[in-house]
Amino acid sequence: MDKEKKEESSAIHPAVAPLSYLLGTWKGEGEGGYPTINSFRYGEELHFSHPASGKPVIAYSHKTWKLDSGQPMHSESGYWRPKPHGSLEVVIAQSTGLAEVLKGTYSAEDNVIKLHSQVVANASKVREISRVYEMVNGDLHYVVQMATNLTTLQPHLKAVLKKL
Ligand code: HEM
Repeated sequence: MDKEKKEESSAIHPAVAPLSYLLGTWKGEGEGGYPTINSFRYGEELHFSHPASGKPVIAYSHKTWKLDSGQPMHSESGYWRPKPHGSLEVVIAQSTGLAEVLKGTYSAEDNVIKLHSQVVANASKVREISRVYEMVNGDLHYVVQMATNLTTLQPHLKAVLKKL
């Protein structure tokens, strides 16, 4: 590949540009809970990258661990696909076997991303998932809510992460 073509393909796609603040590795701690379980704290690393394919896609992965022992907990990975006019679709495969397709919006002004599940597949209890990601003073905050067969939509996870 000649140099010009290479530079072109490693450039950020215009559709990804408004979300480019996400690109990189984030690390922090979170807190989980739900009416039916004991609450817990966890460590987390999140990674967003823009594959060199030049396509309008952000690759996403996260892993979590127990704070006391470092033992791995939940992990997931997927793709974030920004669309025109501030809309966004996301697919995520979880280590538990659950698969999510989410749709929502992003705001370039206040860096808030709101997603709601269109599909939750291969889940015994989960019926709905919502995710909100927000930049606050340079930190990435998120809240994940879920609805199960017994409980309406309410928080399961919240975390604050710093860029490495
Ligand atoms: C429990 C779903 C992410 C840790 C649960 C339960 C569900 C669930 C359905 C059982 C609730 C009940 O019995 O009523 C999900 C979904 C997630 C997610 C949909 C992502 C969207 C995570 C993450 C962690 C985690 C990231 C760890 C950092 C736990 C723990 C429990 C639990 C410790 C309680 C113990 C257990 O039942 O295994 N989760 N979870 N979950 N989740 Fe998650």
